[in-house]
Amino acid sequence: MSAQQKALFLTKKHGDWEVGTTEVPTPGPGQLLVKVEATALNPLEVGIQVRGILVEDYPAILGVDAAGTVEALGEGVADFAVGDRVLIEGSFINGKGTFQQYTLAEAVVSAKIPNNITFDQAASVPLGLATAALALFDQGSAGLPPPWEESGKGRFAGKPFVLFGGATSVGQYAIQLAKLSGFSPIIATASPSNAPYLHTLGATHVLDRALAPDALLSQITQLTSGVPVEIVFLTVQLPSLELPVSVLAPGGTLATVWPVIDDAKRAAAPGKKVAGVYGSANTKATRETGHSLYRSIPRLLASGELKPNRVENLADGLKGIAAGLKKMEKGEVSGVKLVVRPQETL
Ligand SMILES: NC(=O)c1ccc[n+]([C@@H]2O[C@H](COP(=O)([O-])OP(=O)(O)OC[C@H]3O[C@@H](n4cnc5c(N)ncnc54)[C@H](OP(=O)(O)O)[C@@H]3O)[C@@H](O)[C@H]2O)c1
Repeated sequence: MSAQQKALFLTKKHGDWEVGTTEVPTPGPGQLLVKVEATALNPLEVGIQVRGILVEDYPAILGVDAAGTVEALGEGVADFAVGDRVLIEGSFINGKGTFQQYTLAEAVVSAKIPNNITFDQAASVPLGLATAALALFDQGSAGLPPPWEESGKGRFAGKPFVLFGGATSVGQYAIQLAKLSGFSPIIATASPSNAPYLHTLGATHVLDRALAPDALLSQITQLTSGVPVEIVFLTVQLPSLELPVSVLAPGGTLATVWPVIDDAKRAAAPGKKVAGVYGSANTKATRETGHSLYRSIPRLLASGELKPNRVENLADGLKGIAAGLKKMEKGEVSGVKLVVRPQETL
């Protein structure tokens, strides 16, 4: 293996994307060195480039979703071997960003990929799944019992689950987790073109996201037939919280993808809880739920209980990422995860 590799750099805050070379990193204790066969794009990278959030050290290698092959093991790694196919949680620190040909991953947030799943599909899993799972099942967020453990499986039979943003990557994983939890009905908003696919994941009803709030509320009320809605998940920005809060029963929880819940958001939901999430399965606060999730991923994917997002491959390896992020910024990506193959970078 060469000591140098290709990586995609964000040159400076609000800067451009440029492919350059950098050293292949060496795994430390508990880490894997992974040859990245596929990496997925997220709204996170759009936010970092356009809004200048989260990253201060430039040039920066971003990307938090990857799948590939284990090339080397750091000290103390017992559960993986060189040659294993893995999906990994990356992070926006240069050695661990996934927009490069080789990256480091923490073994505790890596999972072996079963044979029924391709690298491209596996790359769609880490951030979307962790965000949905932590928002709904981590004690720091909504805190429901996780359905990948016996105590949570089927636990909410007969209770409704309402999701605004069913076709987002996070939403697609949330629908599947809600199904494993036994929720019924599972009501999601999306563009009508995504309805047939969301039904295959477990949504019982898909409502047109373009409907006026009053029409959506009345349809949701009819579908839940008077059973209190104790959990609503919001994966998209709505003009206000009025609709999701009106759907919720008193004392219910509005789980959101927002990393920070400020006083204004709390005040918009009197008598109800608003929960946020930080979608990493490996922070001090999230690691108990996060590591338990990662241990379950191979089984959930192999059994088909969890399906990865549908993927769209972008050409030109790492060079294709800039155009993909632009499409996402313009809202031109619907119900699929954009994926590139860094080894195809010329
Ligand atoms: N806090 C965290 O750690 C964390 C982690 C991950 C993601 N996030 C955030 O979570 C959100 C979702 O991320 P993602 O990667 O899952 O998104 P994504 O896959 O890029 O979402 C694209 C989808 O959004 C849907 N959408 C847009 N506006 C909508 C609306 N008003 N109602 C219903 N659906 C709407 C579209 O659905 P249709 O095609 O059906 O129209 C589209 O398919 C983003 O804001 C992201 O920044 C936060």
